[in-house]
Amino acid sequence: MLDKKTIKRVLSGIRATGRLHLGNYLGAIKGMIELQNNPDYETFYMVADAHTITTPFSVDELRQNRKEIIIDYLAAGLDPKKSTLFIQSQVSEHFELSFYFSSVTTIARMMHLPTYKEKVKQYPKHNTMALLNYPILMAADILLYKADLVPVGIDQEPHLEVAREIARKMNQIYKTSFPQPQRFATKGEYIPSLTGEGKMSKSIEGSYINLTDSLDKIRKKIRKVPTATIAGGPITGGIKTLFILSEIFLPKKTYEEFKEKYHSQTLKFVELKDTLAEAIYQELKPFQEKRKQIASNLTYVEKIIKEGAQKAKTVAQETLKEVKEKMGLS
Ligand code: TRP
Repeated sequence: MLDKKTIKRVLSGIRATGRLHLGNYLGAIKGMIELQNNPDYETFYMVADAHTITTPFSVDELRQNRKEIIIDYLAAGLDPKKSTLFIQSQVSEHFELSFYFSSVTTIARMMHLPTYKEKVKQYPKHNTMALLNYPILMAADILLYKADLVPVGIDQEPHLEVAREIARKMNQIYKTSFPQPQRFATKGEYIPSLTGEGKMSKSIEGSYINLTDSLDKIRKKIRKVPTATIAGGPITGGIKTLFILSEIFLPKKTYEEFKEKYHSQTLKFVELKDTLAEAIYQELKPFQEKRKQIASNLTYVEKIIKEGAQKAKTVAQETLKEVKEKMGLS
């Protein structure tokens, strides 16, 4: 029998801003699966649909994407028997806790976050309270389940720092018992953009490979990665991207061989590119097949979503009850 106290909780989420790409898969989903399959952890994985409305969005796309991401989760190997899979907005406790948390968070702290500044720059006309509150809602997502571990990409570290600060403040002021959530990093936590600049991102055209891309599409996208160099000049972003992806997807020996060829200046980039495209496709193929199967059974998907919300709610209500009692709200 496992001792209940040694079981740690895990929570993660992905915004419902579009279909998943390779960066999400390697940066978050792989870690989510690893933790799900470890009996020392109890895992909660959600679709952060409310976080989606913090930047401009389309109602119809949001409606569709919430479900699509659950299907992606299932196809990638998240198992509803092992993990609680749910949609954030169906567990209203997230918003309630988020409001209580906002009472221990200053406006100045939120305004200084790099993620906030970037979004304001990107959407100057949408500098909303929801955007400013984004990290507080994320802290509520995590702490509502008293999660110890959060499998997310490295860009989310500033948000985790906020969650830890909120946990500390709440524990200090109100004697609650929130843990200090830590990020769970995966090998592919930073997947560079195919453009050779920055990270693979849904909002940058030409930067990403979708999990549902065909071999032909992947090949075309990889072939476009810029590899032009100035003789004797520094390694370019595009070449870096190719080698980072190669290290992840190619057998070690093949990767080393390409690297050697690169250093001895005998590498034909198209060869490396096509080998890499094929390897990425092989990794995605089982996912694509499973996805088709799941997408054809929407009754099953609906059932998973409904049961997930119920399970999440049970845990969420317990935490909220404790917080309300300790804050004098019950
Ligand atoms: N901010 C995260 C991202 O953009 C998504 C997210 C929302 C999340 N709530 C979360 C991730 C809670 C982990 C835990 O990737």
